[in-house]
Amino acid sequence: MSRCARAPRTPRTFYGVAVSRAPSFAPVDVVARTLRVELTAARARRGGAAPRVLDVGGGSGTWAVPLAADGCEVTVVDSSANALAVLRSRARDAGVAGGVRAVQGDVDALADAVADAQADLVLGHGLLEYVDDPAEACRALAAAAAPGAAVSLLVAGRFAAVLSRVVAGRLTEARRLLVDPAGRWGPDDPLRRRMDVEEIRTLVEVDGRLAVERVQGHRVLADLVPDGVVEPGGGPPDALAELEDIAAGTPPLRDMASSLHVLARRPV
Ligand SMILES: C[S@@+](CC[C@H](N)C(=O)[O-])C[C@H]1O[C@@H](n2cnc3c(N)ncnc32)[C@H](O)[C@@H]1O
Repeated sequence: MSRCARAPRTPRTFYGVAVSRAPSFAPVDVVARTLRVELTAARARRGGAAPRVLDVGGGSGTWAVPLAADGCEVTVVDSSANALAVLRSRARDAGVAGGVRAVQGDVDALADAVADAQADLVLGHGLLEYVDDPAEACRALAAAAAPGAAVSLLVAGRFAAVLSRVVAGRLTEARRLLVDPAGRWGPDDPLRRRMDVEEIRTLVEVDGRLAVERVQGHRVLADLVPDGVVEPGGGPPDALAELEDIAAGTPPLRDMASSLHVLARRPV
């Protein structure tokens, strides 16, 4: 089939470069793969019972719905009633309403919403950018994790934001992002902070409740591959996944990912 005959795809940009995501690239997600390994281990620890996942700031269910579809019992705690309404509807549409519990609550009062030390996996994806006190949020996430369980964090990366502003010619914002202690481009920045690898690692390990096991870039290269460039004959179908796996953990490529992923563990 000629390139012109393809169905149109949603345009995206990365560092200001127009790219589109081919369907075959969908499995290129090191975070999803990391979580799958974690859940397999949790299921084994529980003698085959469904892993209990707590998704704080889980919003409309980007992670919660697929995890429920994978057989997890997911509790989403989110401060937004609107996001939780969308979550319920998406869970119903996906046929997993029974596997998703939606609780309106704040990470600052997480202990009021869920029991301590019960979750086999705790997610805080896209959460730390919005909270008042990220160290306190990390403490709450750690307290909700069962001994030996993992806490998975995704946080906006400072350096990708700098590069995207430079490519767009927004140099004042790029400079602010680079030098501002919170990694913000100005007072109207909707995010309260962006981080680099050292910042997120220090934050997570600040009081010894969690030990960082892995820091990786999320979709470091996959979004850069322009439509049609890889095929035909560009490599085996999993070539990009393998490349992404390596890049995700290789500085400085890792450090320039738009999101940084941390897998930390509560000691047994
Ligand atoms: C960027 S969205 C991330 C959604 C989802 N985790 C994801 O990765 O797609 C941030 C979510 O955090 C929620 N949120 C923000 N501050 C919060 C807080 N203090 N406690 C609980 N949820 C919060 C918002 O309502 C929103 O749904």
